[in-house]
Amino acid sequence: MSVLGIDIGGSGIKGAPVDVQTGEFLESRFRIPTPSPGTPEQVIEVIKRIVDHFGWEGKIGAGFPGVVQKGVVKTAANVSPEWVGKDLASLITEATGCVAVALNDADAAGLAEMRFGVGQRYQDDYVLFLTIGTGIGSALFVKRELWPNSELGHLKINGKDAEDRAGDGVRQEKGYSWKKWGKKLGQVLEVYDFLLSPDAIILGGGVSKKYDQYGKYLKGINADVIPAELRNQAGIVGAAIAAAEMLIID
Ligand code: BGC
Repeated sequence: MSVLGIDIGGSGIKGAPVDVQTGEFLESRFRIPTPSPGTPEQVIEVIKRIVDHFGWEGKIGAGFPGVVQKGVVKTAANVSPEWVGKDLASLITEATGCVAVALNDADAAGLAEMRFGVGQRYQDDYVLFLTIGTGIGSALFVKRELWPNSELGHLKINGKDAEDRAGDGVRQEKGYSWKKWGKKLGQVLEVYDFLLSPDAIILGGGVSKKYDQYGKYLKGINADVIPAELRNQAGIVGAAIAAAEMLIID
C-alpha cells in the first residue's frame, strides 16, 4: 500500500509517496519552503501543491510540529499560533479530497524509526525517541505502542526549556562546539533518563549523523543512547505509516 507522507516543518514542507510495507519512497521527495509566517491557509496551499505535484488521490499522513489530538492542532511553538484549534486533518481533506491523518512530527519520525530503523532492536522495550532540530521533539514507545504528544522538548531544566538549552538551533546560533553542545544535551538526557528510565534513547534529526562528534560527552545515562538510522525521511515515512494504519485518530 502507498500513502503520501507529508512533513510540515518551520522551514520546509516535504512530501513523498511511501511504500508503507518497506518504508521506501516511491518517488523523489518534493520540498517547498514554508511560507512566512506559516498560517493555516498558506500551509494548506503548499500541501495542495505537493498533492498536485504527485497527482495524488489516496490517503495522506501529515506530521506537524506541535501537539495534535484527533487531527486538531493544540500547540504551535515554532509555527504560526493561528494553527491552535485548527483541524489539520479535515483541512487537508477539504482542500484535496483525500482521507488524511495528522499527528505530531516527532511521533511520526519515531514510528518510522521503530519500524524501519534502529528501533527494530527495541520492540519489547521502553523507548524514548528524540528528534533534534530547531526544537526538540519527543516520542515515547511502550513495547512499540506510541504514547503520543509527549512534548519533552518543553520540559524545564534549570528554568529553561530543554530545546532552548540543547536544541540544534541553539548550537548553531551560539556557535557551540560539539563538546560544549554535547555536554548540554547530556544534561537534558540525564533528566529524561532519570524521570522515565527508558531502555533506549534514540537520537534523530539532523545531528544524528554527527553522533561520533558529541556522543562521548553524554554521561550518566543508564539507557542505551543511539543515533537514529533513517535521517531526514523519517517524518514523511512515519506520517504515511500513521495514515495507512489510521493511527492516532482517536
Ligand atoms: C514542538 C513539538 C515538535 C518539536 C519538533 C517543539 O517545539 O513543541 O511538538 O515535535 O518542536 O518539531
